Amino acid sequence: MNIIRIKLASFDKLSNAIVPTPVHELPVLSEIAGCRIFCKRDDLTGFGFGGNKARKLDYLVADALQQGCDTLLAVGAAQSNFCRMAASYAAVHGMKAHLVLGGDKPERPTGNLLLDHLLGAVCHHIGSEDWEDYESHSSELERNLTELGRKVYRLPMGGSTPIGSLGYTEAMAEIIDDQKRLGVTFDTIVFASSSAGTQAGLVVGKMIAEWPGTVLGISVARKTAIHTDNVFKLACETGRLLNVSIDRTAVCVDDNFIGDGYAARTDSCDEAVEFFARRCGIFLDYVYSGKAAAGLLEYCRSGKFRNAGAVLFIHTGGNIELFA
Ligand SMILES: Cc1ncc(COP(=O)(O)O)c(C=O)c1O
Repeated sequence: MNIIRIKLASFDKLSNAIVPTPVHELPVLSEIAGCRIFCKRDDLTGFGFGGNKARKLDYLVADALQQGCDTLLAVGAAQSNFCRMAASYAAVHGMKAHLVLGGDKPERPTGNLLLDHLLGAVCHHIGSEDWEDYESHSSELERNLTELGRKVYRLPMGGSTPIGSLGYTEAMAEIIDDQKRLGVTFDTIVFASSSAGTQAGLVVGKMIAEWPGTVLGISVARKTAIHTDNVFKLACETGRLLNVSIDRTAVCVDDNFIGDGYAARTDSCDEAVEFFARRCGIFLDYVYSGKAAAGLLEYCRSGKFRNAGAVLFIHTGGNIELFA
């Protein structure tokens, strides 16, 4: 058995996860890059239209059920992918989802919010996007629900805690299997990085397996120095659960594709979203996977991957935003 899976064996995980995810080559990008470019379809992880949050929730919701909780409380923007996925996991596991959502209640729900409603989640629109307001509303809601006799599991923003990050430590084991099955060795794994859980989990997996390639997070919000600190801190905390120490040089971040900030549109992201749709038949989004793909395209075009054996792009999902 893969050494990563041996380390993870003592942690609870939901048994109905729909992984491994497919991996296929993107020939049009391979031609541009001069090396084989593959895409791992974590936009197809299973329930609730999928995405990277499923892997975190496979561990977080197992932890919630183990503690006897019957209610998931998640926070995020009105179009949060994480909240939509939390609502779908609650639906699958007979729990109630309460979502604390930023901003005002829109006249008509669209995109992720439409799906939150369909999944039966209770949506609390707090009229503010201030972090302190999210915190105070969540705490008050947790108190109220507890008084009503509910056992609440409060999910962290983006699912990025050590337990949540284990999902991507396991994904690293899957990627090592993907390499064997496809007969390739990935030099670099490229993906969108924001609340750090995806990247931290992959870095921990890399350290355990002594995988020699680069885990490259394309930051969609924070500058390299701050984001590297965030990922390193979370990777160390996750590593502690598994008795693994983390080398800071294993955390690689590129902040060149953020533009004016989180969720700000950029020309390179717009172009990448269109390129993936028209040349690969794959839908991305403008906040996460589109910015990561903008980075991937730039690396391919500038010849940075020319000497690589192969490169893996993880499609982390988020494309429901196209319907917002
Ligand atoms: C579609 C999508 N891709 C990537 C990310 C980034 O993952 P992480 O927050 O684990 O860094 C997110 C997080 O919200 C996301 O929704």
